[in-house]
Amino acid sequence: MSDPKEKAQPATELLPGAGYPKPKSKCKSIAVKTVLVAFVFLASTAFSARGAFREFHPVKANVCSQAGELIPEKNEALWESLSKIYGTEDFKMRAVDWLGGAVRVPTESYDKMEPVGIDPRWEKFSAFHDYLLQAFPKVHTTLELTKVNTYGLLYEWKGSDTYLQPILLAAHQDVVPVEPTTYSQWQHEPFSGYFDGELIWGRGSCDDKSGLIGIMSTIESLLEQDFKPSRSVVLAFGFDEEASGIYGAQSLAAAMLERYGTDSFAMLVDEGSGYGDQYGQVFATPGIGEKGYLDVRIDVASPGGHSSLPPPHTSIGMLAQLLVEFEQNPFEVHLSRDSPTYKTVQCLAAHAPDLPPSLKKEILESEYSDRALSAAEKTLFENRKFKSLVGTTQAIDLIQGGVKTNALPEQAWAVVNHRISTESSIDELKNRDTDLLQYLAGDFNLSYSAFGVSLSEANAPAYGSLNLSDAWGTGLKPAPISPTDGDAAPYNLLSGSIKAAYNSHRNIGGNDNIVVSPGIMSGNTDTRYYWDFTNHIFRYGHSRSVGGSLPSGVHTVNEAMSADNFVEIIRFFTTLILNADESKLI
Ligand SMILES: *[C@@H]1O[C@H](CO)[C@@H](O)[C@H](O)[C@H]1NC(C)=O
Ligand SMILES: *[C@@H]1O[C@H](CO)[C@@H](O)[C@H](O)[C@H]1NC(C)=O
Ligand SMILES: [Zn+2]
Repeated sequence: MSDPKEKAQPATELLPGAGYPKPKSKCKSIAVKTVLVAFVFLASTAFSARGAFREFHPVKANVCSQAGELIPEKNEALWESLSKIYGTEDFKMRAVDWLGGAVRVPTESYDKMEPVGIDPRWEKFSAFHDYLLQAFPKVHTTLELTKVNTYGLLYEWKGSDTYLQPILLAAHQDVVPVEPTTYSQWQHEPFSGYFDGELIWGRGSCDDKSGLIGIMSTIESLLEQDFKPSRSVVLAFGFDEEASGIYGAQSLAAAMLERYGTDSFAMLVDEGSGYGDQYGQVFATPGIGEKGYLDVRIDVASPGGHSSLPPPHTSIGMLAQLLVEFEQNPFEVHLSRDSPTYKTVQCLAAHAPDLPPSLKKEILESEYSDRALSAAEKTLFENRKFKSLVGTTQAIDLIQGGVKTNALPEQAWAVVNHRISTESSIDELKNRDTDLLQYLAGDFNLSYSAFGVSLSEANAPAYGSLNLSDAWGTGLKPAPISPTDGDAAPYNLLSGSIKAAYNSHRNIGGNDNIVVSPGIMSGNTDTRYYWDFTNHIFRYGHSRSVGGSLPSGVHTVNEAMSADNFVEIIRFFTTLILNADESKLI
């Protein structure tokens, strides 16, 4: 998972509140992020509420309705025998070797890298390709591999039925760099892939080599059982996801567009959230959307001169006032019934037994009562992080101006980072920022231009200038929301596969052991380049979040993946591929 323009962002970037909490725990996936962390404050006030409310306000059947556990039918025997194999100690050790070996090939990506062929730091990815070739021989003799922009990997496993739309599985080869000063804090070397009997240690063991190697291990295992797909499976593995995917996923998208065209995939699963316990219920929270992103640069220019004869306001003084204007006008945030975050809390209300009963009541009634919606919103927004996840945010993150104490600053600038609500847009945000500063621009007698449009009278005399712009040209719209309603077949297929994979590992059956809830990402993934290929995009990695009890951190020290969890990831991809293969609905 990554974040535009910022390096080594903790994966908790995807937490509600855009990366405030430092990830102390293991492969925290957005399960924790969207819901768990958002509701920690509620947990502290939790009463035992099991069933108390249900008698008076029955949960409407359509609130967070659940697809049933989905076990492959046509391929049931194969699924059963693979389940048995996956349960053996031998297979676990194989999986440990597969993932550990991948961790041992460092594939760090950095911000502002030069293109492939110029920046020599890309070259280490060929060692990773060599590793894949050697570790997954059947994949490489069966699937067709195209290398895109040298290091992007595009695999196609051709199905026999060309009328079926392929599924697309995405992951990224790169990892965030290991901060050299933190080496000593690692319990095991960051590129050791060391297995301590429980955990596989090292950078990328979670993000995202567990996804990439999970997919490869699954396909190698299916091939060993002579499985031949009806539906094609396409794999897209970028190599700079942690640096916005401009060389990797962006090139892969262009190649796929040429080969497959738009709307060419039944569904897409990329890295993202996992599952974890929330208020007495295990939830899996696939990300069905991503917030947008815009860094707004504010440039102020005014005449220089000697500091002994100053004007009332220098460029820096004016900039400071403009920035205060931002902070004095936080975004108004509302929980909209159409938003993914609303769906998330509906699922909590419908399925989490230990949610405080008053909140549960408000959420459930909010579906038809505006008063209840306001009440729920008020309670939920007491959690600043949850509120941040819902709305558009602003954070003044960079500032510069002035060169000398005896020289008036001719220039001063700052950058305000925005995460754009799934209910908003880049244009709405630009208009808001533009309007916000209009009055002060006039007050300071500054000519004003914003996002390429001049807002001052042409050639009118002015004391100085104010200019707003997209700081690096990396503005990103909020992602389209993937459908999750009752008849959204791909979401149901994903949900049913999650349930079957979860249950098979524990030798249990049924639909309620794990509840699937739509979630949202505040950070971004490689899927930002893949919107045109399908409406059904899910950011989901089948990893358990263990609430910090295990010593493994994404994007920080001591990243580690439990071997049992990694095998369960393989069960998940196996179930997903087999279900998709025989589905007549997607
Ligand atoms: C703005 O500044 C310019 C240049 O100093 C000056 O000519 C103009 O009269 C000022 N306008 C106002 C409204 O003060
Ligand atoms: C505003 O900033 C943009 C980006 O830095 C720049 O291209 C443009 O020329 C500037 N416009 C004015 C009027 O200064
Ligand atoms: Zn990632």
